[in-house]
Amino acid sequence: MNENIQFFQAFLKNPTSVGSIAPSSPELARAMVKGIEPGPENVVLELGVGTGAITKQLRNAGANSENYLGIEIDPSLVRSLRGSFHELNIVTGDATSLAEIHRRSGLGRVGYIVCCLPFVSLPNEVGGKILGEVEKLMTEGCMFRMYQYAHGYYSPSAIKLRDFMRKRYGRSRRSPLIVKNIPPAYTLTWFGR
Ligand SMILES: C[S@@+](CC[C@H](N)C(=O)[O-])C[C@H]1O[C@@H](n2cnc3c(N)ncnc32)[C@H](O)[C@@H]1O
Repeated sequence: MNENIQFFQAFLKNPTSVGSIAPSSPELARAMVKGIEPGPENVVLELGVGTGAITKQLRNAGANSENYLGIEIDPSLVRSLRGSFHELNIVTGDATSLAEIHRRSGLGRVGYIVCCLPFVSLPNEVGGKILGEVEKLMTEGCMFRMYQYAHGYYSPSAIKLRDFMRKRYGRSRRSPLIVKNIPPAYTLTWFGR
């Protein structure tokens, strides 16, 4: 099935969990993956794999079964992802159990967390729980990258999330606005310390 149609169907089924009507554009996906060099002790965790828009770029950057773990809550998306990315570990799971899912995978130290979860539309307690899990894995030098849509950038939940991260990891590195995406978005990057 066409990726855009599949994504839109997932959105209609669960709008708050999917949080967007279209998958990330190639421009946003490339910005999300910039500088990432996966390795057995620099494992990439991708949270909210969707239809795999960012996964494709991660695979181009060297993601494989020894250095990549994708977590997606929607089992029907995971079934289809496994067809397209059979060489990658993609599991049906909830990012609120992130540390335990990583532990069970048997993979090494997490070097990169590529987060595509729609914090602005997720319930506050779910977002808070996920950030608590992220904290468990953010060892020194671990990179956490997410995107935030320009139109929601100053919403209370987006500001709260940035405050949470700033208190722990300092100011983010923000990309220029990526206009070739529906809707336009920034990437934000922090490093564990
Ligand atoms: C905005 S979409 C991003 C999809 C894709 N990465 C992209 O950039 O096009 C968010 C994805 O996160 C998934 N998701 C939402 N809550 C989740 C959770 N608690 N754990 C894992 N995945 C979740 C949704 O099902 C959806 O596929």
